[in-house]
Amino acid sequence: MSEDRIVDLAALGEDFTRDPHPVYAELRDRGPVHRVRLPEGFEAWLVVGYEAARAALADPRLSNDWRHAAGAGAGDPAAAPHMLISDPPRHTRLRRLVVKEFTPRRIEALGPRVREITDELIDAMLSRPDGRADLVEDFAFPLPAAVICELLGVPYADRKAFHGWSTEVTKRSGGPQAEAAMGELAGYLVRLLEDKGRRPGDDLLSALLRTTGEDGDRLSSDELLGMAVLLLIAGHETTAGLLSNGMLALLRHPDQLAALHADFDLLDGAVEEMLRHSGPTGTSLHRFTTAPVDLAGTLIPGGGELVLIGNTPANHDPGRFPDPGRFDIRRAPHGHLAFGHGIHYCFGAPLARLEARTAIRALLERCPGLALDADADRLVWHHSAMMRGLPHVPVRVRPAPGTPAAQVHHASSAR
Ligand code: HEM
Repeated sequence: MSEDRIVDLAALGEDFTRDPHPVYAELRDRGPVHRVRLPEGFEAWLVVGYEAARAALADPRLSNDWRHAAGAGAGDPAAAPHMLISDPPRHTRLRRLVVKEFTPRRIEALGPRVREITDELIDAMLSRPDGRADLVEDFAFPLPAAVICELLGVPYADRKAFHGWSTEVTKRSGGPQAEAAMGELAGYLVRLLEDKGRRPGDDLLSALLRTTGEDGDRLSSDELLGMAVLLLIAGHETTAGLLSNGMLALLRHPDQLAALHADFDLLDGAVEEMLRHSGPTGTSLHRFTTAPVDLAGTLIPGGGELVLIGNTPANHDPGRFPDPGRFDIRRAPHGHLAFGHGIHYCFGAPLARLEARTAIRALLERCPGLALDADADRLVWHHSAMMRGLPHVPVRVRPAPGTPAAQVHHASSAR
């Protein structure tokens, strides 16, 4: 069945971005693939069913390379080539060279620093006289930024500037300010790479400069720059979104919060359920058809049609995850698509999981009275279907003066 009608998600405004699930449920009932206009302002084919999404993510006729876009030439958003906008064989080559250095050992070694950075951020929040904080600005955003600095080996003295540019770039607000920040960031990374060439450290960038494939293949300086920018962009807003969306889900479900507080063996499952229920990646990145593709009965023409694969609607497909709106940290949602699927499956997933487990446990242990400081239904979400996230989540990290202890420690008392 092919559908000519365009579903205008943009026209639904905040109702859609705050809670897209009723709309996605209606679309899924009608079929797994639809032509939509996104809140971002452009039209695309959107895949909303789980099975169709998995199939699309593994379909080689859907290209990540902007050179296949209809009317290509304009719009390649990258300062330098990187794997997420590449198809095989370039993708295979770039990913192989990097995976060689982004090892489980390197990620594990970051563990103590992740805990230290987490503690520093919590210390700062707890030191506020009014006990109030913004979970996004004070915690979820700076944590992955600092971890990426560790990973890339950004010297301490440069971190403030680096953080400023990367926040500006990651906010995706567009405009001259974001462009200027991208220019500064790229310039800085080029200088950093030159410096690592002269004085290698034990960080990932130094390792990538050295690394050589079995056939003597190496990353060019453009590819190294592309990789550094990709790691930063792919690993920052996503992880921040997981922490803030995930904590919001937990705070909105006091029974689940209490269960986790009482038994941290549930932590790994809680993070997976946060990814499924409230994951930050609403859809995949752009895909372009290189040939006509029949997706679950919908024929999408070839010739560079834009296709987005809906991670969020797929993760709420009741055919795969029964009663999908229920947030249940014991669910064990194997096969969720929050990290994608197929050759572009997120290779930062182990680092994202390490950060989320560390951060969420530390928050619960050190701020037992943590509570939302706003009406959850009135929080503003980013105007985007591709990324699901909130610019602000006001919280109390310490109880408001005069709150009865019994109310404050509802969670810890469940131990
Ligand atoms: C909760 C956090 C994260 C989420 C939800 C997430 C999600 C994703 C998704 C859905 C994709 C595939 C996109 C597509 O197919 O269009 C992806 C790819 C990627 N992610 Fe992540 N990511 C996260 C954290 C990270 C981190 C921490 C890093 C690295 C520091 C990272 C690095 C990458 C890279 C390099 C790719 C491209 C892989 C390829 O093209 O082969 N991600 N991520």
